[in-house]
Amino acid sequence: MTDRIDTKKIPTRRLYSGEEIPCIGLGTFGSDKYGPEQIAEAVYGAIRFGYRLIDCAAVYQNEDRIGEVLQKAMTEGIVRREELFITSKVWNDMHGEGDVLASCRKSLRDLGLKQMDLYFVHWPFPNYHAPGCDGDARNPDSRPFSVEEFMRTWRQCETLVDRGLVRYIGMSNMTIAKLEAVLPLCRIRPAALEMELHPAFQQKELFDYACAHEILPIGYCPLGSPSRPERDRTAEDVADGELPSVATASKAHGVHPALICLKWAVQRGQVPIPFSVKKAQYMSNLTCVINDPLTDAEMAAIEADDRNCRLVKGQVFLWKGAKGWEDLWDVDGSRRTWEEALNM
Ligand SMILES: NC(=O)c1ccc[n+]([C@@H]2O[C@H](COP(=O)([O-])OP(=O)(O)OC[C@H]3O[C@@H](n4cnc5c(N)ncnc54)[C@H](OP(=O)(O)O)[C@@H]3O)[C@@H](O)[C@H]2O)c1
Repeated sequence: MTDRIDTKKIPTRRLYSGEEIPCIGLGTFGSDKYGPEQIAEAVYGAIRFGYRLIDCAAVYQNEDRIGEVLQKAMTEGIVRREELFITSKVWNDMHGEGDVLASCRKSLRDLGLKQMDLYFVHWPFPNYHAPGCDGDARNPDSRPFSVEEFMRTWRQCETLVDRGLVRYIGMSNMTIAKLEAVLPLCRIRPAALEMELHPAFQQKELFDYACAHEILPIGYCPLGSPSRPERDRTAEDVADGELPSVATASKAHGVHPALICLKWAVQRGQVPIPFSVKKAQYMSNLTCVINDPLTDAEMAAIEADDRNCRLVKGQVFLWKGAKGWEDLWDVDGSRRTWEEALNM
């Protein structure tokens, strides 16, 4: 394998503005398993190899180390700032008035950037939980989604664009019901929606909804997050690599099932952001999207293998009175108001 990929060969996806961004990026959440040092080193290696989109977040607690390697890569002439597309996210404890600006400024400072390319609202409510907390932990102050509260956070994101601190803003962990409620109220619309997407969890309706609204779906846990923390594991979870369609394609193409998940993601049209600190993995993850595509029959077989298996259920964000994690995701198709949810 070459030590650098020709970045011109990497397909692109279009934002609503017409700007093109790479069809794949690098995740930076260490899943409580990998530390900031290792992750920053991987970001540096990945940029050297040809990655241009890096998915960061304040809550991953490594933006300062990533900032150092971004500077290093630019100083060494490996990449220019305008070739990179850097995302970050405001965490749930920073939704209050003035906090989004403070959080964005901190991420910019840590990452050593003057401007963020895309800034997400990480979760659509202010329910705080400390990073790495236990799956059974609940915060008594947690509350259901509120359009008013969300819009107060979104307005602050819009101001970040007005001030030139951020080029695009995005949402994450949303549902159609929530989007229906907030999109008509947005002065600046979301450029992207970060959502869990892998063969066993395809979220077809939400994916189609986002595309129809020119919101680019960015797929997290694209490999089914095999190293995810214990708190995000349940007995019912399906391993994507074991889906018959993925296993069969993996044999046919002679590659690891992870690469089949990525080929599927890119050919479907979402932007996967696989995480890896291992050179061979992150190199093959990028290389696989420029050669040996899946056939139409393989794409159709994977589509038919959807198991509706959500891995990041978000149960730590539940409020008092909530029945279960399904309440976070409006699984019955309706969005409950704060009052309705509390009275259930
Ligand atoms: N917006 C949100 O709320 C949200 C939520 C979750 C994640 N994210 C973002 O999405 C990114 C990706 O999600 P994720 O890290 O949970 O899961 P993932 O990318 O699906 O899985 C990452 C793991 O897959 C394994 N892997 C990677 N490349 C491989 C390859 N070529 N062959 C075999 N195994 C491979 C590695 O496991 P080993 O290390 O064990 O080898 C790696 O740690 C995160 O890093 C983060 O940036 C966002």
